[in-house]
Amino acid sequence: MSGLIAVGLPSTFKDSPSGKFSYKVVTISENKINSEDPNKKLSDELGFKEKKALVLKIGEEYQAIDAFCPHQGYPLAHGNLVDIEDFGVCFGKAIKCPAHFWTFGLDNGQCDRSPHKLKVYNCTTDSSGTVFISPKPKDV
Ligand code: FES
Repeated sequence: MSGLIAVGLPSTFKDSPSGKFSYKVVTISENKINSEDPNKKLSDELGFKEKKALVLKIGEEYQAIDAFCPHQGYPLAHGNLVDIEDFGVCFGKAIKCPAHFWTFGLDNGQCDRSPHKLKVYNCTTDSSGTVFISPKPKDV
């Protein structure tokens, strides 16, 4: 799977504290610059920052988002999974940050109470069941 980041087999995912999903956190390094690189400062200035993505396994589905809350950086793996609903109709899933309870849609990363937005990444699996994500966020 050229250009994709291997996340691993589903059996390597950890159970979340909420018990509603399992997860892995992976590093996305644009242009393959890693954090130990002595040129990291230069790479930061050039805009090639390393990021962490949280890959969630919800039942047999996979979703990938930024790993840390854009508000104050709390790890979203410790968040709770909630339904986005209106008048009892479910429109999708969201993750609720446990620090201050901001909620972010898993499909578009949008926060429910501020302009903050998570990046969202495409997920796929191969014939062995290995999970991959795209290093480039979706345009949502
Ligand atoms: S750190 Fe997530 S809502 Fe404040």
